[in-house]
Amino acid sequence: MTKPIYVLNGPNLNLLGSREPQVYGSETLEDVRARCERKAAKLGFAIDFRQSNHEGELVAWIQEAKEKATGLIVNAGAFTHSSIAMLDALLASELPCVEVHLSNIFRRESFRHNSYISKGAKGVICGFGPLGYELAIEALAASLEPKKAL
Ligand code: DQA
Repeated sequence: MTKPIYVLNGPNLNLLGSREPQVYGSETLEDVRARCERKAAKLGFAIDFRQSNHEGELVAWIQEAKEKATGLIVNAGAFTHSSIAMLDALLASELPCVEVHLSNIFRRESFRHNSYISKGAKGVICGFGPLGYELAIEALAASLEPKKAL
């Protein structure tokens, strides 16, 4: 059995659907999970989809991923702009990671323009809402199994 792709979501993403819908849209995190499961299944991957409001828990999950996952998709929420600890965990994991943001962080406040996570990511997808998660799964799948790439 191939190991799953861990899809990790940071703080406040549990509020999707009701949180600033003009910025983040109307889909809930459960809707996003369903999209990810469908997309991954089509490409022959399993996912393990999680959310936490706690930086330490996210760090622990990234550490766990080193042994248990084949790759990572991370929307670190506001920790994107502050968490050297999450970056260090990503670098230590040596796993391919795609960073995702629902919103285009570069069209927003300047404090959102810097991502600590990006240095540990293969690539970044932002601004496409929940579709970004599906694009990230496709990109990760293509880098894990280039022969199967679309
Ligand atoms: C976000 C962007 C972050 O700046 C913000 O703090 C979030 C969500 C996004 O998905 O657009 O919580 O990561």
